[in-house]
Amino acid sequence: MSNTAKINEYILSNKQRFLDELINLLKIPSISADSKYNKETYQTAEEVKKRLVEAGADNVEICETKGHPVVYGEKIIDVNLPTVLIYGHYDVQPPDPLDLWTSPPFEPVIKKTENHPEGAIFARGACDDKGQMYMHVKAFEVMMKTNTLSCNVKFMIEGEEEIGSENLETYIKENKEKLKADVIVISDTGIIANDIPSITVGLRGLSYMEVEVTGPNRDLHSGLYGGAVGNPINILCEMIAKLKDDKNKITIPGFYDKVEIISQEERAEMAKAPFSLEAYKKSIGLTDIDGEEGYTTNERNSIRPTLDVNGIWGGYTGEGAKTVLPSKAYAKISMRLVPHQDSDEISDLFTEYFKSIAPSSVSVKVTPHHGGTPYVTPIDFSGYLAAKNAMEATFGKAPIPVRSGGSIPIVALFEQVLGLKSVLMGFGLDSDAIHSPNEHYGVFNYFKGIETIPLFFEQFAKLQK
Ligand code: BES
Ligand code: MN
Ligand code: MN
Repeated sequence: MSNTAKINEYILSNKQRFLDELINLLKIPSISADSKYNKETYQTAEEVKKRLVEAGADNVEICETKGHPVVYGEKIIDVNLPTVLIYGHYDVQPPDPLDLWTSPPFEPVIKKTENHPEGAIFARGACDDKGQMYMHVKAFEVMMKTNTLSCNVKFMIEGEEEIGSENLETYIKENKEKLKADVIVISDTGIIANDIPSITVGLRGLSYMEVEVTGPNRDLHSGLYGGAVGNPINILCEMIAKLKDDKNKITIPGFYDKVEIISQEERAEMAKAPFSLEAYKKSIGLTDIDGEEGYTTNERNSIRPTLDVNGIWGGYTGEGAKTVLPSKAYAKISMRLVPHQDSDEISDLFTEYFKSIAPSSVSVKVTPHHGGTPYVTPIDFSGYLAAKNAMEATFGKAPIPVRSGGSIPIVALFEQVLGLKSVLMGFGLDSDAIHSPNEHYGVFNYFKGIETIPLFFEQFAKLQK
């Protein structure tokens, strides 16, 4: 029997258990952002550790950090073979708004959807990233049990991706020797569709800012003072409106200076990826789209930088009406960055400009949150080629390279600190609602991943020779 046949037979006969184990993992609310869930987040790390041990990994440990721990494990079968480092995260986004979930976020159920006629598991973290991370644990089990493991493997599963991976940065700096490998493989991105495989070759960077605009020293009666005193909320809105012009270009001086210019040929190549604007609009309930002039929708959300308000608050938002002129207004503003923009530099440019456009009737405080460097992978290195060959075999068509709009800030640091390139072999769909209510992950996608990963190992070992 061929290796592939052995592997597929093992997967088939363990299908239900593979699903049940993921469902159990999804029941634990590992919300890294919310300290109320610290115990559950730790418990999730312990569950991952237990599963790695069961699958046959050695030296499995929970590595404490200043925040949520990293789970490490490895299987070194032969020091002369190449080593694949698997990265993933066991933490999840907060599930709110809860009332928009059709079933509770931590009570996983399988339901059919338009894009997932075979069913999808609905739960927070199903796709991002527990479901995708766990494919690697199961693929490893499959390779161990069928005696087909062809590379050494190391696992590094963290618990702080959704809050910026700041402690993981320290961890990788302190563990360079232990993390030595030839390539990093990450399943935390997506494919175009279940019949249109793709591999992510770019991630955007990030600068995330919080702003506070202060006017009068206390909330005022909006009748007695209104019209004579600058209203911080009105002023904040005007300032935000000034951050983009009528062509949707960001107005911060110097913002575009370092933006990578992509050639017409490369843009034409990218435009070949199948895309329906009508289906796109329909999927998010829009009658029209909006964005930077001169670029297509796919360019706007991949090769171009952005600026978006993520939240805005201040004044009275409770029931009924309260006539108040607020003392303060706040907003959280994110900028997605592209090569070769620098997150710290962009944060500084933002701060300087934002302060410069404030009228003298208010004072402004700007606080940067976490950032991240953009990342692009070449499509001619062994890691990419191994993923391409593996996916071509399991999907029956060659995957298309695409740049994604999302961010995984640690990936650029993997290259800087460990000198390792990452292969972004994800299996999610944009419609899987990550970070939104009703997040789900296709049963098809879960098993497609488990089937593809062993082929990646086989191909990578071959190409490294
Ligand atoms: N897995 C996502 C990123 C992603 C999803 C990239 C789909 C490409 C395609 C990751 O968990 C994530 O949500 N990242 C955050 C950044 C982080 C600093 C909070 C993001 O992109 O907002
Ligand atoms: Mn993720
Ligand atoms: Mn995420």
